[in-house]
This record gives sequence, C-alpha cells and structure tokens, in this order.
Amino acid sequence: MAFLQIDNVSKYFPSPLGEGRVCVFKDVTIKIDKGEFVTVIGHSGCGKSTLLNIIAGLDEASEGGVLLGGREVSGPGLDRMVVFQNFSLMPWMTVFENIALAVRSAYQDWEPSQVAAHVNKYIALVGLKGAEAKRPAALSGGMKQRVGLARAFSIEPKVLLLDEPFAQIDALTRGVIQEELIQMWNTSKNTVFMVTHDVDEAILLSDRIMLMTNGPSARIGEIVDVTIPRPRSRESIIDHPHYYKIRNHVIHFLVRHAAHAGGVGSASGGRSVEEPVLVRF
Ligand SMILES: Nc1ncnc2c1ncn2[C@@H]1O[C@H](COP(=O)(O)OP(=O)(O)O)[C@@H](O)[C@H]1O
Ligand SMILES: [Mg+2]
Repeated sequence: MAFLQIDNVSKYFPSPLGEGRVCVFKDVTIKIDKGEFVTVIGHSGCGKSTLLNIIAGLDEASEGGVLLGGREVSGPGLDRMVVFQNFSLMPWMTVFENIALAVRSAYQDWEPSQVAAHVNKYIALVGLKGAEAKRPAALSGGMKQRVGLARAFSIEPKVLLLDEPFAQIDALTRGVIQEELIQMWNTSKNTVFMVTHDVDEAILLSDRIMLMTNGPSARIGEIVDVTIPRPRSRESIIDHPHYYKIRNHVIHFLVRHAAHAGGVGSASGGRSVEEPVLVRF
C-alpha cells in the first residue's frame, strides 16, 4: 500500500442537458510514495481540479476512494493542505495573521510566542520578511501566493495539494517562487500532489508527471518518470540531455490529446481499464 493511494477513482456529474450523467474521469489509480513530488498535467476541463479536490476531501469520488497512510480520506483535514490558484487569503488579515491562523488551528496547544516564531520562520523562507503587517490588497500576486505556500508548509501537512498555484503569476516571478518551493520541499520532504499546465514547471519539480487524457472519461494516459538528478534549478536543468526529450514527449502527448477528445485508445466496450504507459527519461 502506497503512502497516498488514489484507488480506482471515478467522477460523474449530472449532465448539463438534464438527463443522465457525464463521466469526468474514470478509474484513476495513482500510488504516491512518502516524500514524492507528483504533478498532473492535462488540458483544461479534463478533471485535474476535481481529482485534487477529491484528495483534499472537498469533493467526493463517485466510485473508488483515496487512502492516506492506509486510512480512507473523508472530508477535509489538516493532514492535507491545499494551495489554490486564486490565493484564498483572508483579506482582512495581515500576512502574519493569515499564516498564524493556520498554525494555531494545527497546533492548538502552542504558546503565542511559539506560534509567532514558527510563523516568522516560514515568512522568512518565502522572502516576505518586512511584509508581515501588510494585508493581501497591498500585495502583488506573487507575494500573495508566497503567503499561500508559507501557510500550507507551516502546518507541516502529510500531503500538500497545489492546484495551479502559479497560473496567475507573471513568468519571471513564477520562476523565483518555483525555486523557493523547491527549497521548502527539500527541507520539509512533504509529499506533494500538484496540478499544472506548465510543462517546464512539471519537469523542474516532479519525480513523476501524470499525463491526463482529455475528458469526458479522462484517464491517466502516461506516467513520465523524471530521473534528472536533484538538486535541480531552472538554470541547470535546461542543460541536462533529457530535458528537451521529456519536454517534447509531454508536448506531443498534449497535442495528440487535444486533437482526439476522449483520448487515444480510451477504454471501451466494457473492457477492463487500460494501464497508463510508463515512460522513463
Ligand atoms: N460541480 C460541478 N458540477 C458539474 N460539472 C462540474 C463541476 N465541477 C467541475 N465540473 C466539470 O468537470 C470537468 C472537469 O473540471 P475541472 O476538474 O475543473 O477540470 P480542470 O481542473 O482539469 O480544468 C469540467 O468539464 C467541468 O465543467
Ligand atoms: Mg483546474
């Protein structure tokens, strides 16, 4: 049994046409080891956020289940922290208070001084020293998401769930925050499940990249094992001989699956589910 196991999860929504139901994805199985960094890449609408929300306990699987440390996940919990694309900070609270709120809820018996020291440690890790007293309205997108990441890491969850956290951040800032994320992950060794649509980001961060076919009835079509050694940086990784091989492979997959909605070779005719293709670079 893997540390985080997504076990034959399918999701259906009521059909917008009123009758029947639409299958977003079917029989998704992903086994994630403790400390592993896994990303999911796929076209918009294939069900990435829905899958992440099921792991978070914010949505329910129609079939199958999610096991964390051998126990079935039901509902949200502090063992799984989510970072959303839209930052989701409390607008009336300062940077410090936004993070402290999470820390206090995770460590309820801590003294205020202990909470403050912990919050300040994470504020420093994301380079927000000096901005502690600012409210979200006074922060740039990049700074807001630094607060989101600091908040998520500060409660030291078993699993970090990142749903396109850099999608709204300009490319230059995104690169800087990606490296901060790598550094935090290097020390925390959290298990991370991240949704992205940025191929370069996926290669930089991942141990494995799950390539999702298009919906309806999306599935994990391929799993790419990224063997480029760590530590990685944006600068050094592009010189690695496997970098452009992986990049081309992933882009080809995405282009193929944009042309064939439903995915090449979707399971059909009552046949058992196809296993994802494993690729190793
Ligand atoms: N609450 C809902 N009710 C009905 N359909 C939904 C709901 N949430 C998502 N969907 C549909 O499920 C599909 C997958 O959505 P989503 O997980 O947001 O995709 P992604 O994150 O990959 O862009 C989309 O077609 C979307 O319209
Ligand atoms: Mg999404």
